[in-house]
Order: sequence, then C-alpha cells, then structure tokens
Amino acid sequence: MRTLVIFGATGDLAARMLFPSLYFLERDGLLTPDLRIIGSSRGAMTQEAFLDLAHTVIRSRSEGYYEDGAWERLKARLSYVAADAAEPDSFADLASALEGDEETVFYLSTSPTLFVPIAQALGASGAATPTSRIVIEKPIGRDLKSCQAINDAIGAVFSERRIFRIDHYLGKEAVQNLLALRFANTLFEPLWNKVSIDHVQITVGETVGVEGRFGYYDEYGAIRDMVQNHILQLLCLVAMEPPASLDPDSVRNEKVKVLRSLRPIPGGELSKRTVRGQYARGVAEGHTAPGYLEEAGAHPSRTETFVALQANVDNWRWAGVPFYLRTGKRMAERASEIVIQFREVPYSIFSGQELLANRLVIRLQPQEDIALSVMNKTPSLAQAGGMQLMPLSLNLSLSHAFPTQPRRRIAYERLLLEALNDNPTLFVRRDEAEAAWVWIDGIVQGWEQHAMAPAPYAAGSWGPAGAFALTERNGHSWAG
Ligand code: BG6
Repeated sequence: MRTLVIFGATGDLAARMLFPSLYFLERDGLLTPDLRIIGSSRGAMTQEAFLDLAHTVIRSRSEGYYEDGAWERLKARLSYVAADAAEPDSFADLASALEGDEETVFYLSTSPTLFVPIAQALGASGAATPTSRIVIEKPIGRDLKSCQAINDAIGAVFSERRIFRIDHYLGKEAVQNLLALRFANTLFEPLWNKVSIDHVQITVGETVGVEGRFGYYDEYGAIRDMVQNHILQLLCLVAMEPPASLDPDSVRNEKVKVLRSLRPIPGGELSKRTVRGQYARGVAEGHTAPGYLEEAGAHPSRTETFVALQANVDNWRWAGVPFYLRTGKRMAERASEIVIQFREVPYSIFSGQELLANRLVIRLQPQEDIALSVMNKTPSLAQAGGMQLMPLSLNLSLSHAFPTQPRRRIAYERLLLEALNDNPTLFVRRDEAEAAWVWIDGIVQGWEQHAMAPAPYAAGSWGPAGAFALTERNGHSWAG
C-alpha cells in the first residue's frame, strides 16, 4: 500500500489545485491501484463531510471534464484523519493509519509556519519512516537564514533526497518545453550567448490583486513571492549550460551554477537596477480595482506588489547581457513571457530601411506559443532603388500543434505524479533554494538600508514609470 497524505486538506491550495489535479490523474488512469489518499487538517471532520468538500471542489474545477465514474474511483481512495501540529500527540491516529505502509508521501499544503512543526511531529510519532517523502511548497522561508533553519529542521527527519520542494512553474508544460527548445534543436544553441543575444526579458504579469491573501502576501511581497522562486527558475532554464543528462542532479547542478553567478546589486546601484511598486486604485480589465492598501484585511504597508530588476549572470556565456525581470499584481494583462532579443545586423545593405533585430518570444501564459520575428521583403514591384522590408513572425502555437489535447493540464498534476513516482528532477534542491535567497537577500537588505519605498502605480497598468526607465537607461524597452 502507498499513501499520499495531504496536510491542509481543507485549505485553499488543496481545493484549487491538489484535489482537482488528483481527480484528473484518476480520470486519466495515472494513479496506481495501491494508492490511497488521506486528507488531514487540524479540526475533527466526518468522512462524509470531507468527501463532500472534495467532491464540491472537484466538480467546480473540472467543468466539461467531470465524470461520475472517475470521481467514484477517486472517492474510494480518500479518507480523513485529523492531526494538529500544535499537539504532536494528535499524530498518533495518523501514525497508526500508516502502519505497514510501504511508501508514504506527505504533502504540506499548509502555511509555511507549519512546515517544521509538522515534520517534527511526523518524526516523533513514527508516521515518517526512512522511506517516506515530504513535499513542501514555496516560499521556503523569508530569507536565507529562515530557509536554512527550515531545511535543517526538516532535514533532521527526512534526508535531502526525500525532500521535494515545489515550484509549480516547473510543472508547467511551456516551462518544460524550454528544455526541449534549447537542447533538442541545433538552431538556437550556437546563438544562445553574448555574441548573438543583446538582452533577455522575463515578465510574469498578473491581473489579479492579492486575492484575499493580504496577511500572507504582505509578509513576502513580489520579490519573495515570485522572483525568488518562479522567475529565478525561469532565468535558470534560459541561462544554464546544457546538462549532462536529464537526471535530477545534472539539471539542478546547472541551475545552481546560474544562481551563484548572479551579480549582487550593491546599494549604489539599487535605484538604477531595481524598481519597487505598489498598486493603487485603478481600472483593471474594465472594472474599478481597489488599491493594495484598500484590500480586505489591509493595513499601512510598504510591501511591493511589483518589482522590476536588471540581473546580470557573470559567466563566460552571458557577460554583459542584461536579464530584465519583471512581475506584478494588477498589471494591464495576464501575460508571462520570455523574450530573447538578438543583436542587430552588424552592417545593413538596405539603405533607408529600418531593420528590427530578431526576437524570440516564448509565451507561457495565457497561451503557450513561440514566435520568432524575422525581417522580410514586402512583395511589390514599385521599389526603385531598393527593397521595402518589414518584420514578420514565424509562429508556433502549441494549442494548434496539439489540437487533440484540449485541456491544459494543471501544473500540479505533473508535480504530484513526479513526487509519487519519486522523481525529484522538477523539484528544487536545498542549494538552489539557498543560492536564490543569497541574491534576493542582498536586494531586500539594500532596500531596507536605503529606505526605498515602493512607488505607487495604477491598477491595470504595467507598473511605475521607473520600470520603463530601468530598460531605457540601457537603450532597451520592454516588449509587449
Ligand atoms: C504563486 C504565488 O506561487 O504563484 C501567487 O504565491 C501567484 O501570488 C501565483 O498568483 C501565480 O501562478 P500562476 O500559475 O497563476 O502564474
């Protein structure tokens, strides 16, 4: 028997992502017959109430794909056991429910403050055995020190090989495709360096605000919530050297090297290389949207909801190539994309024609597509003395290429499956998480020392004016 235990089973992440993902895995026949799933949280709850809850969230997230049969099969695996990390004795029931289990995966879909108490209670109660694994969600800590403390405490119960740190961006199809694009084609790799690439942009724009999570978000802000993990992971996949193979450590070794090559941003450069913003009231997607400080539960705050940075990867491949990173809540559009801006032609023979440098745009959200802009001749005879040129785009839309895959998978489907299959490739290793904090801590400490407050920006815009100046200072501009 194998068991997946979900702590925080009545919480938001479980409802939005985990149960729907498990439903889809069940529906597609991807869960092995010997797997059972135990939901756990602090309070007592009857099996019926738990099954009703799971059923409701699954129905609401599987519209158009709901099948009673698949739900019945999943339901047969589900049960509920209460356990409260504040009372380690309450883990006895769970430990006895797991007795004789060959393999257990504990998924902590809880507040990060509970990671350590739960891991310790699992160790003390005997629920955790040398073969069990633990899955924890980002953010791992608020800074290097707290991340190390969490890693040490969890590491006292689970060996590093058995700790699966989730960054759900690594489960996204389009993010995985970055590896294929770079390392399954010969076309790009010879150009993928400072000789041909002028700069790189990574944008993750969200139209939503803090979605009722002010309490959590205000402690973290955009740099800890998005940049330390999702955006730096994207940067690693763009910038890393070809790994020796796809085995877990080969890929993660290359990512760590990138993180360790990130140039620190000293105090004197903070105002040129970093921008903090906080959304004010505005119009987003046609509706008036409240400012960050007007959100439910808000209090006066200097937490940023937008950040733009100029990162530099100091190594042979990328010396001198800026990586512009930008993310924010209440942006003009939901758009996540990576832009590889190539250099201009060294000399133009097309006098009077503006030649736009090639640009490769990899869109991750809302659509997944890849577009390469190239200069073309305009078809016409009336061109005495030269040609008319214009940029056109070679487009690859992944939804058109794979029309039989109508449903876009939830990133957690893949990650749950990989954790159940004991494959850590898509999970963040301790040294990666810590190396990312080293760079982020330098920036956050600089902001604190220089009292750099976030600049307000209107909800529904692309952030404060400083974000545009950040790229324009180097003669660049944000794409899109
Ligand atoms: C989470 C952040 O990790 O990622 C949220 O905590 C953010 O603040 C979310 O909204 C974005 O994920 P996605 O998959 O919608 O881009």
